[in-house]
Amino acid sequence: MVKICCIGAGYVGGPTMAMIAFKCPKIEVVVVDIAVARINAWNSDRLPIFEPGLDEVVKACRGRNLFFSADVEKHVAEADIVFVSVNTPTKTRGLGAGKAADLTYWESAARMIADVSKSDKIVVEKSTVPVKTAEAIEKILTHNNKGINFQILSNPEFLAEGTAMEDLAKPDRVLIGGRETPEGRKAVETLKAVYAHWVPEDQIITMNLWSAELSKLAANAILAQRISSVNAMSALCEATGADVAEVAYAVGKDSRIGPKFLNASVGFGGSCFQKDILNLVYICECNGLTEVANYWKQVVQINDYQKSRFVKRVVSSMFNTVSGKKIAILGFAFKKDTGDTRETAAIDVCHGLLGDKAQLSVYDPQVTADQIMRDLAMNKFDWDHPQHLQPMSPTTTKQKPAFIFDGRNVINVEELRKIGFIVYSVGKPLDPWVKDLPAAPPS
Ligand code: NAD
Ligand code: UDX
Repeated sequence: MVKICCIGAGYVGGPTMAMIAFKCPKIEVVVVDIAVARINAWNSDRLPIFEPGLDEVVKACRGRNLFFSADVEKHVAEADIVFVSVNTPTKTRGLGAGKAADLTYWESAARMIADVSKSDKIVVEKSTVPVKTAEAIEKILTHNNKGINFQILSNPEFLAEGTAMEDLAKPDRVLIGGRETPEGRKAVETLKAVYAHWVPEDQIITMNLWSAELSKLAANAILAQRISSVNAMSALCEATGADVAEVAYAVGKDSRIGPKFLNASVGFGGSCFQKDILNLVYICECNGLTEVANYWKQVVQINDYQKSRFVKRVVSSMFNTVSGKKIAILGFAFKKDTGDTRETAAIDVCHGLLGDKAQLSVYDPQVTADQIMRDLAMNKFDWDHPQHLQPMSPTTTKQKPAFIFDGRNVINVEELRKIGFIVYSVGKPLDPWVKDLPAAPPS
């Protein structure tokens, strides 16, 4: 029986290992983490993360062939395959600060694997890492030369939060990169056999290590680029009277382009897109590719522009100040069906409005008040329980005119205008009210 251990019980490690255990009842899977509270939550009735369908899969396998443990070293030592799914955030200090991936957690996991291992192991890069990381990991793993054979594989994860279980059950593809040696190819086959329990073999793609590592960064950069492209168009739509939803529909009908990831929004968020593009930018710079680095940097710059454009719309529509005005913020996570607030556009929007002394009431069904407080790290706002956020109409609001600003293009603009709201929706023809106001001065 193959034994799998995954280091890192986060948004990727938890759901991915739960799916492997669910689909491979004969494989024992142990997910380990240094965060004891997180492990305790995985072993409780209230899992540490919300993902539709996750509870059911965990309940079906936990205690059978799926285990969560804080005894990291013991389970790593016993495993045949060790997945490393630790966080790789953007470096905040030192060389490459603000761009490069911080590999501190990865490095300490690799050192620990090297120290506790007594048998050969396949070590799988599940975290998103800079291209060529496997080379550095190999050096760490073999530094004390105990005669143990370590094979490093790159197996990047493509799940999106909110649809993680669906994405894991039916992935577009599974990517496995390995060394082009007999031992490397054998390791690739071993991992391939795990996924082949439920993924059709022609969707399990194998390639060289560096291609697999780079493919992950490339996929995220190109997905984010589509959003920045359509968001850039949304600004032009507002200036010209075109409707970005219509433009995106027309563009997406071209089978070479396709309809997905063309929804204009207040800007992309989440723990991956910005971090991975900045990482890509840094790698390009390190390779002397300044023009390529600048090209990808622009995807993040347009995203920042979109977020500040949204705040300026709110402020300029409400007579150039929101000071003392009550604003309800509906939705705080970076997208629906998740409680994850990492890099959510809502943080920037709230900061922008709080900076102008607005009074905010924030609600998200998956995010706690404490989390919102921590994210905003400010005390100058109210947090209202959902019951205080009844649907409002201008007849129930005391102050008129009443405004709605839709950063997701999910509301029915016409209906709301009909009952008297002044509505702004990203990239849609502007409400005459908004259109006739002088633009907010540049910040
Ligand atoms: P996360 O922060 O939710 O989880 C990482 C976990 O690793 C944490 O619980 C942390 O305590 C643990 N950890 C760190 N160092 C450790 C160590 N030395 N030993 C044991 N545990 C350790 O992160 P995540 O969102 O799951 O992301 C993990 C990786 O996967 C990142 O590289 C990310 O870029 C990548 N990724 C994330 C997503 C996503 O949607 N979140 C999707 C694809 C890829
Ligand atoms: C992303 C990738 O999609 C996934 O493959 C990778 O493994 C991790 O990074 P994730 O960040 O979880 O996944 O969510 P995603 O669905 O990609 O959304 C990211 C952000 O883009 C969200 O804020 C979302 O609202 C926004 N978005 C997405 C848009 O603004 N418009 C779109 O058309 C699609």
